[in-house]
Amino acid sequence: MSNIDTMLQEERRFPPPTEFSSRSHIGSIEEYERLYRQSLDDPETFWSQMAEELDWIEPWEKVLEWDPPFSRWFVGAKLNASVNCLDRHLGSRSDKVAIRWEGEPPNEQRELTYAELHAAVCRFAAGLRELGLETGDRVAIYMPMVPELVIACLACARLGLVHSVIFAGFSAEAIKDRVNDSEVRAVITSDGGWRRGKVLDLKGNVDRAVADCPSVEHVIVLRRTGTEVDWNEGRDHWWNDVIRDAPAECEPVALDAEHPLFILYTSGTTGKPKGILHTTGGYLLGAALTTKYVFDLRDEDIYWCTADVGWVTGHSYIVYGPLAMGATTVIYEGAPDYPEPDRFWDIVERHKVTIFYTAPTAIRAFMKWGDEWPEQHDLSSLRLLGTVGEPINPEAWMWYHRTIGKEQCPIVDTWWQTETGSILITPLPGATVTKPGSATKPFFGIETDVVDEAGESVGPGAGGLLVIKRPWPSMLRTIYGDDDRYRDQYWAKYGDRNWYFTGDGARIDEDGYLWIVGRVDDVLNVAGHRLGTAEVESALVAHDSVVEAAVVGRPDEIKGQAVVAFCTLESDSKPTDALKGELKAFVGEQIGPIARPAEIRFAEAVPKTRSGKIMRRLLKDIASGAEEVGDTTTLEDYSVLAALRESEEG
Ligand code: WTA
Repeated sequence: MSNIDTMLQEERRFPPPTEFSSRSHIGSIEEYERLYRQSLDDPETFWSQMAEELDWIEPWEKVLEWDPPFSRWFVGAKLNASVNCLDRHLGSRSDKVAIRWEGEPPNEQRELTYAELHAAVCRFAAGLRELGLETGDRVAIYMPMVPELVIACLACARLGLVHSVIFAGFSAEAIKDRVNDSEVRAVITSDGGWRRGKVLDLKGNVDRAVADCPSVEHVIVLRRTGTEVDWNEGRDHWWNDVIRDAPAECEPVALDAEHPLFILYTSGTTGKPKGILHTTGGYLLGAALTTKYVFDLRDEDIYWCTADVGWVTGHSYIVYGPLAMGATTVIYEGAPDYPEPDRFWDIVERHKVTIFYTAPTAIRAFMKWGDEWPEQHDLSSLRLLGTVGEPINPEAWMWYHRTIGKEQCPIVDTWWQTETGSILITPLPGATVTKPGSATKPFFGIETDVVDEAGESVGPGAGGLLVIKRPWPSMLRTIYGDDDRYRDQYWAKYGDRNWYFTGDGARIDEDGYLWIVGRVDDVLNVAGHRLGTAEVESALVAHDSVVEAAVVGRPDEIKGQAVVAFCTLESDSKPTDALKGELKAFVGEQIGPIARPAEIRFAEAVPKTRSGKIMRRLLKDIASGAEEVGDTTTLEDYSVLAALRESEEG
């Protein structure tokens, strides 16, 4: 844990601007503390009151049933997520814009009011029903960032179909694994998607994947780019044909609060991605409440979260949170530097965005591209900034504060995970004094601690493991189809104390502020996205030339971490630069461009402990070019280290 203790002391403090506080939902730290106390002392009453934020079809008998590690929230209640995101706004917000969309090709824009979005969702849901899909069926969504992606999610939610969104940057291999793991019946995709002016072959990837997916009966294809696609008669349906004959009405299904809403796959420490399962009531409440309080949402806000719906941030803070709260949300299809590096600021200016939520990796890229890009634009509409995905370095925080926020906007550094469903550690912008680099304090109902291996609180200043000591409404319910892995991964570490183990290292300072240090397991954070080292390793060994692979991260200025792969080769394979290029491309094909190694190193053998564990710490030191290689007393074969050093010098 030694690396966790060495954090720079950050002395700067940023109190919320008085004007901001005076107009916000939670306007003082005392108000936050009062509610936080209540949420821990009397959770039953607290959550009952908070749950009034949603529309329920039938009330609950009990707020929580906790049979560790399995929780059920709002037991016996019924609701529908699409009703909460759409129908309930039809009175007062029918004509309010729900989605303001911009395509990547400049000048392509669409607006959908709540009434229009509702109609589109009903129609598509009715079409899905006509295809024979039934409540509980799994549906994969592999689409670019177009309004139909949101429509597809909400149509699933309307019928109780469990959606599994697969990021459009993933490969056919990755689709296949995910689709087979949850036995998906239908895949929704498009003919293509735009990325930096090029077309991604989404339908082609689906075709290649689904060839090995026996459960898939239907592939629904939206026309987006006009690209020619192969057609599988009987299996494939154009989106427009699905909605053409469908009725405009579609009764929502009254679903149990614990009915699964979606599965979202995330990396773990083994090669197999984990299907994180979220259910309807608790998840939606978590997403809605945090949207309201963390982003201090008001009806007139223009809210923009730059994430992709393929990741959890897009689920909670593009789709479910903002729409449940009746917000106007901006959706942008493409890359931040297309056609120029000021695309984001151009969007902020033209749409008069008031709340802007992005990732530290993006902020570091903006810093590198230069201040001249934001400076060309009027950013005065902004009133609140947010970050998520990895620790933000104080330098990037200060740049964001000055260059984007003009020193006027509070910054909410929000810590959470795919598993947590919604933000768990965060400032409340009208209440919390922020410190650059700290996610500050737990949200309501979240009992955090930083503990050592034995479970003792480490106290101010020291480093340890971040745990959550009680269940919360939007927590994952299990790993799809694998309760044992769910228990082992998240709840077994501290035995019958039943604490949730986050896998993150953290520190608490004298003021009780939390400083997240990053993952302590074999999971990398590349450009704000979790990537299991084992996943990349298994992709590498799938290549004919590679016998064994060990993957680690090295610090990267923009991406946070970059993937470095150590490979040992088959005896008849030559360690050439051409092979390095081939292996990088191969990983890209197997998993997706995000997993592509920045560097491949060939080695005689991979260093292992006596028990056969790859010595990652050592490899990390080598990969980051550290002069002194760490403690080697458990190394099985010293010659291996020497050989690696040679490979480094050679
Ligand atoms: C990291 C993304 C520091 C952390 C919502 C966590 C952060 C992982 C922050 C989850 C933050 C996320 N400060 N680290 N504000 N936000 N992380 O599942 O390591 O893609 O465990 O969810 O990202 O990544 P995931």
